[in-house]
Amino acid sequence: MKAREIRPKIYSVGAIDWDRRLFDALIPLPDGTSYNSYLIKGSEKTALIDTVDPTMEGVLIKNLIQLKIKDVDYVIANHAEQDHSGTIPRVLEKYPQAKVVATPRCKGMLIDLLMIPEEKFITVNDRETLSLGNKTLEFIYAPWVHWPETMFTYLREDKILFTCDFLGSHLATSDLFVTDEATVYEAAKRYYAEIMMPFRTTIKKNLEKIKDLEMEIIAPSHGPAYDKPDFILNAYREWTSDEVKNEVVIPYISMHGSTQKMVDYLVGALADRGVTVKQFNLSVVDIGKLAMALVDAATMVIGTPTVLVGPHPNVAYAAFLVNALRPKLQFVSIIGSYGWGSKAVEQLKGMIPNLKVEVLDPVISKGFPKEADFKALDNLAEAIAQKHKACNFV
Ligand code: FEO
Repeated sequence: MKAREIRPKIYSVGAIDWDRRLFDALIPLPDGTSYNSYLIKGSEKTALIDTVDPTMEGVLIKNLIQLKIKDVDYVIANHAEQDHSGTIPRVLEKYPQAKVVATPRCKGMLIDLLMIPEEKFITVNDRETLSLGNKTLEFIYAPWVHWPETMFTYLREDKILFTCDFLGSHLATSDLFVTDEATVYEAAKRYYAEIMMPFRTTIKKNLEKIKDLEMEIIAPSHGPAYDKPDFILNAYREWTSDEVKNEVVIPYISMHGSTQKMVDYLVGALADRGVTVKQFNLSVVDIGKLAMALVDAATMVIGTPTVLVGPHPNVAYAAFLVNALRPKLQFVSIIGSYGWGSKAVEQLKGMIPNLKVEVLDPVISKGFPKEADFKALDNLAEAIAQKHKACNFV
């Protein structure tokens, strides 16, 4: 995609990665992504806000050539992760006079990750400003979205907040700004769930910190920019709030049908009681969908057969992931089956220490579930429905 002007003298010069399907060798990208980079031409100085993934450095350099940029004075590094910083060395090669503007922590990380020489940096304090002549950049520390060094850059005269990963979405689109809110909402929620959710408490502080800024545009470094900032700010306020929904998420796997039968029965029993259920078969799951469901749910029930005394390895992986993502779940239970002996419940409970949850009585069946097991599943469904009612989630 060639360079495009988003406001007078402010250009989008980044790259769209339509075909990328995996990020960090972990996160599925069903809709591709983009690495947004913005060029700001002030009356005296020129600044580049973030760069692009090194696989796409050619796109950024071509865009700077297309705009006939002779000098870049500052490269603003809002975040040290390589999908935004990885092309800084190439930019410094082309524009040797440019200085990298970063927080002290980001400077250290960029030296470690990219071996950028120390003399190339200017470090900035929280709320420090940098003049480009007729345009002023203000740097706002915003740690832990989602690394410790992250900051935002606010372009005062144009009321644009550049937030790097924060508020972004993995979405390849030719639109500079959001046109299809439903599509972007889904992609931004997926992004929040996979990347930002572990930092929910810090995010609330960062939202508070920018609440009085006048913003006409929020320009993140993935996905389209927001020319109606309230759309994404309100979504983040909802996702990070302490409120949960009357929803149960069931990540599970079944080997010979016993756990499947129990999951099917529990889903029916919960639905009969007015509880929304989202079930995820871990043998075919898109972990992004599972993460999204965990943004709002009050309860998770893990379903597992027993493999070598413990949970199925795919279930252990899911439990590890959920523990790392720290969703605002309030209740957890475990259902499943075994042939001759099992420590799956104890092992799974030990894998989720980060979750501040009440554990409801597990239901474990010896072999195929029988009448007493179905009765226990009814009791579990009733307990969940009552807990949700008592907590006013319904
Ligand atoms: Fe898009 Fe944390 O990098």
